[in-house]
Amino acid sequence: MNIDLIKEHIGDVLKETNLKGLGEKKVGKVRDIYVSPDKITLVSTDRHSSFDRIIAFVPFKGEVLNLISAFWFENTKDIIQNHVVSIPDPAVLVAKVCKPLPIEAIVRGYITGVTSTSLWTHYKDGKRDFGNFVLPEGMHKNQQLPEPVFTPSTKFEEHDRTLSPQEIVAEGLMKKELIEEVEKVAIELFKRGQEIAYTKGLILVDTKYEFGLDENGKLTLIDEIHTPDSSRYWKANTYQERFDQDLEPEYFDKEFLRLWFKENCDPYNDKVLPEAPPELVAELSRRYIEIYETITGKAFDHDFSQGIVERIENNLKK
Ligand SMILES: Nc1ncnc2c1ncn2[C@@H]1O[C@H](COP(=O)(O)OP(=O)(O)O)[C@@H](O)[C@H]1O
Ligand SMILES: [Mg+2]
Repeated sequence: MNIDLIKEHIGDVLKETNLKGLGEKKVGKVRDIYVSPDKITLVSTDRHSSFDRIIAFVPFKGEVLNLISAFWFENTKDIIQNHVVSIPDPAVLVAKVCKPLPIEAIVRGYITGVTSTSLWTHYKDGKRDFGNFVLPEGMHKNQQLPEPVFTPSTKFEEHDRTLSPQEIVAEGLMKKELIEEVEKVAIELFKRGQEIAYTKGLILVDTKYEFGLDENGKLTLIDEIHTPDSSRYWKANTYQERFDQDLEPEYFDKEFLRLWFKENCDPYNDKVLPEAPPELVAELSRRYIEIYETITGKAFDHDFSQGIVERIENNLKK
């Protein structure tokens, strides 16, 4: 989709939903979740979150994220069963109700990042032994790890903590057998993701999975998978050359919008945020669509004939 068409539709965004008959509504950062006894309906909105708040509404983003997830669920279902029941609308996923495990299953294929929880930050500060793996001396930022590593963190806590699987067991968060199964499955999913991403010219750098237990207590992949919100992607063809020259990899970059807020207000403290410049929002939308098309190999198609809420209601009625 070209940028002018996106700009024309900059205001046609799904901000929130109030759908009837789907059960109790819970509001996530990005998704509206309707829980009924037999199913859970996840509606991906166009909300864009950063600094733990909504900073913009990005046209088509909800559809793009939901459909990227759908692609990956389909392409990994031989590894682990997932929560997908159906996708009645581009922005909607009907899923099995599962009991979420209290961790985020993070897998990393490269040593990178700048935040306090990132692997590179720990390594740079001298850490080598991470409990379930030890890293060699002399690694450089953005270097590929000898093997993907599993660095789970807590969920449902105010501040996520990175814990080794041993610590998760010691704290009584999960049983040993279960966290070991999660680790094995997460690594396998990640390797599949890397393989497929590579054929599309992308490196899957790191990602976060969420798992739950279904009604029979069976491990199930829930939430989203390998979306640009839950994962980091770099461009494969320029990676090595740039790494050799100490340059940052080319990547799916949404940082520019965060930077604008940092430069134009105090996003951590201001009660009300300024409105994001439409040109930047349109550019972000363009990038989301581009990565959707790169990953799935399909042209992004949006139904312009009806409003988004109207479309969702019509599709759910069917
Ligand atoms: N199959 C499922 N069963 C129960 N909860 C789920 C399932 N799939 C996803 N979830 C939960 O739904 C929420 C998704 O909404 P999201 O906007 O990502 O919220 P958050 O702000 O918590 O990241 C997450 O809290 C996730 O754990
Ligand atoms: Mg989430």
